Amino acid sequence: LILHPSLLHLLLLPAVIFNNHFLLSLLSLDPVDVLRALQVPSLPEGVKKVPGFCTSRRSSSPDHAYRISKKAQISAPTKQLFSGRFPENFSIMALVKAQAGLQAFLLSIYSEQGIQQLGIEMGRSPVFLYEDQNGKPAPEDYPLFRGVNLADGKWHRIALSVSKKNVTLLLDCKKKMTRPLPRGNNAEIDTNGITVFGARLLDEEVFQGDIQQLLIASNPQAAYDFCEHYSPDCDSPLPKTQAQDPNTYVS
Ligand SMILES: *[C@@H]1O[C@H](CO)[C@@H](O)[C@H](O)[C@H]1NC(C)=O
Ligand SMILES: *[C@@H]1O[C@H](CO)[C@@H](O)[C@H](O)[C@H]1NC(C)=O
Repeated sequence: LILHPSLLHLLLLPAVIFNNHFLLSLLSLDPVDVLRALQVPSLPEGVKKVPGFCTSRRSSSPDHAYRISKKAQISAPTKQLFSGRFPENFSIMALVKAQAGLQAFLLSIYSEQGIQQLGIEMGRSPVFLYEDQNGKPAPEDYPLFRGVNLADGKWHRIALSVSKKNVTLLLDCKKKMTRPLPRGNNAEIDTNGITVFGARLLDEEVFQGDIQQLLIASNPQAAYDFCEHYSPDCDSPLPKTQAQDPNTYVS
């Protein structure tokens, strides 16, 4: 039996598909590195590389961050961040220094219909905007973190843990505040829309400041481990997975 090369090719096809699938599962990293997924490290217009949270770090090179100016316009199809579903229980973690006095959204996720389903606000008494596929909670019931100021010109480690019908804000590794999140059972966030960094569409005020990390993990525990596993103090090295490759950046 002699196989024509093109037939051989056909026989090999399933193996190629399998390998691609395998590769994709390897690529869908958890947590999702939002800055990388939105190509912030390639320094689009309005973004520049600046020193980060730790100007010196034990057995590592100093941190670096990205300075986001008013000019920046950063967005992508949400599918670029989540190839599958958006997790029902999750953590959002950020290491960020917002300009003092700012009141703006750091991240917004829109459904295919253009409804904002997720929003992380920086500023005084920030709101956690979350709306499931049935519009729950209603805007007047969005969790609000009264008395907290996330935009005071200083670095903050901000971790939000969303689990069941609660959202917990863990601020700078010590303060912990839980608010009810009256969403439905089997709440979903549509991944067929777009993700916007540093703004909410139609808002005049946009995020300005420095950001070093923005991660979304598909489990509610990660937020509790943020300072230990992902964003340690300056006397500890950054975890390997977060190691920043200087070759990726234009200086
Ligand atoms: C989210 O957490 C709730 C409560 O623990 C659980 O019932 C639900 O199955 C979780 N969802 C997923 C997708 O794991
Ligand atoms: C939500 O948080 C409150 C207050 O911390 C707690 O009493 C309650 O058990 C939590 N509910 C769920 C479903 O985790």
